[in-house]
Amino acid sequence: MAKYLITGGAGFIGGHLAETLVKDGQEVVVLDNLATGKRENLIPAQNGPGQLTFIEGDIRDLATCHRAMEGVDYVLHQAARPSVQRSVEDPILSHDINLNGGLNVLVAARDAKVKRLVSASSSSVYGDRQDPFAPKREDMDLRPKSPYAANKVAMEYYCRVFHQAYGLETVSLRYFNVFGPRQDPHSPYAAVIPKFIFALLEGRRPVIFGDGRQSRDFTYVTNVVAANLAACTAPGAAGLALNVASGGSHDLLELLAILERLIGVKAEPEFRPPRPGDVMASLADLNLTRSVLGYEIGIGYEEGLAILVDLARQGKYLA
Ligand SMILES: NC(=O)c1ccc[n+]([C@@H]2O[C@H](COP(=O)([O-])OP(=O)(O)OC[C@H]3O[C@@H](n4cnc5c(N)ncnc54)[C@H](O)[C@@H]3O)[C@@H](O)[C@H]2O)c1
Repeated sequence: MAKYLITGGAGFIGGHLAETLVKDGQEVVVLDNLATGKRENLIPAQNGPGQLTFIEGDIRDLATCHRAMEGVDYVLHQAARPSVQRSVEDPILSHDINLNGGLNVLVAARDAKVKRLVSASSSSVYGDRQDPFAPKREDMDLRPKSPYAANKVAMEYYCRVFHQAYGLETVSLRYFNVFGPRQDPHSPYAAVIPKFIFALLEGRRPVIFGDGRQSRDFTYVTNVVAANLAACTAPGAAGLALNVASGGSHDLLELLAILERLIGVKAEPEFRPPRPGDVMASLADLNLTRSVLGYEIGIGYEEGLAILVDLARQGKYLA
């Protein structure tokens, strides 16, 4: 049994990580201040052969990070103020949580001599390119378009520096638009898939910012969990940043058409102006992740959408 610290473990992705690890018999500590996370996200993680401890606390407090790190083997650093839009509205708060908080987590992990720290980065680090539809490769230069993306770029550099300067093994995982059960459908900053699903089910008009031709490499959450666990121990991963995605490009109009078919309704989207900071297209090249992590896509895009629609219909989406 190994001991894992999940910062942001009461969030969408962190909750899935906790659930998988506890079911696998591991010892899990969650550090979360419940800013966007919820205690309910940890309910599925409570029934396993493993052990779950919840610390309600803030990564901006170094002493709290040190306390959470005691005896920890692996850190899965998910805590952040997510969303491009939040960061455009309040860049100082995003910087404080994503970078000052992130640096505390790195310092505490170094001091506790953990075996490895895996940090949640984002496809937003790539920004827009001359050919926006070309797959994003990890060796491309980074062109962040929002404060959030700039935070993630800087955090990747900190991870690399902590590996080089202090010997702390770090891996950054660039998640591409993750979706899955329990992802918040109703916040003003909610991701597009849960927003569309619940708008269609509740008879509301889905809102599209821009013309709907922007495309994303939507990734079902179990793939992200698998990549995190592989990144903890994969030889040769330390010091790298790796894409985590499905490797497919899907625009919002196509997404809406699939959901209309699955749900059996027709919707009239409401188009609003594009939002600052949003990129036009994002599609991952997965060759490096495949070779370093042995990464394989478990649940694909359309299969994931069908699972979610079924859960939402049965009232089990948040369960
Ligand atoms: N969901 C995606 O599509 C996506 C894509 C790229 C990257 N990411 C990254 O993945 C990570 C997890 O994202 P998520 O979608 O699960 O979001 P989420 O909001 O559900 O999870 C973030 C968690 O961090 C916690 N948190 C925030 N500030 C904190 C603080 N100061 N101290 C302690 N905890 C704090 C929140 O309460 C929440 O539980 C984030 O780092 C995010 O930037 C997510």
